[in-house]
Amino acid sequence: MARRYVIAGNWKMNQTPAQTKEFITALAPMVAGKDNCDIVLCVPFVDIATAVEAAKGTNIHIGAQNVHFEEKGAFTGEVSANMLKEIGTEYVIIGHSERRQYFGETDETVNKRTKAALAAGFKVLLCVGEMLDARQAGITDELVAMQVKLDLAGISADDLKNVIIAYEPVWAIGTGLTATPEQADETCGVIRATVAKLYGEAAAKEIIIQYGGSMNDKNAADLLAKENIDGGLIGGASLKTDAFTAIVSAAQ
Ligand code: PGA
Repeated sequence: MARRYVIAGNWKMNQTPAQTKEFITALAPMVAGKDNCDIVLCVPFVDIATAVEAAKGTNIHIGAQNVHFEEKGAFTGEVSANMLKEIGTEYVIIGHSERRQYFGETDETVNKRTKAALAAGFKVLLCVGEMLDARQAGITDELVAMQVKLDLAGISADDLKNVIIAYEPVWAIGTGLTATPEQADETCGVIRATVAKLYGEAAAKEIIIQYGGSMNDKNAADLLAKENIDGGLIGGASLKTDAFTAIVSAAQ
């Protein structure tokens, strides 16, 4: 079965609700009919309702950038899966390196959040990736394989169908440094092989693996042409309608 490209924007902490409405209204006609990939925008929590409304009737899907694992309770500052579901969220990013680096996210909490999100019916964009020192020490493969194993622990083969893995080398995020298509393809291949070990060859062939880290309108086509790269998780370039559209076009 051919894998479908998924091009997802990660807006991080950018854009107000008013800017969100303006952005999606401008983007929708630009990406209309580009249906050979799934198009997702993961926006700040407070922008989701506006984004869902603005994206109605278009081919743009809306996602969040995190979700808590408990249903409700005394977890100040957190947002639950049912809250996100009720306002029309379809996707959720979990385990982004900025969450891991700045907010104490661990493989254990990533695993718990992933389970909760899958139980609630979301599609999960699960992020893994090595820091520069790991790449330089030559332990990228082991490290990324370990993240995949820990983050997917206890997740059924059936639930795996709603997991997309985003390989994001931390040294390439927001730095303008991109992994070469060969490097990115190789590590995405390691991730696919790890999924094969855990869930079998068929699941490994089906799972969508994105590359993320300074993907832009210039380098997207070369990255997306690689066998193991089925899409992109895009930060900076997802904040520009023309650059994001060009990446969507490269995935046709
Ligand atoms: P970037 O961010 O495209 O700005 O490097 C990617 C990401 O963090 O998902």
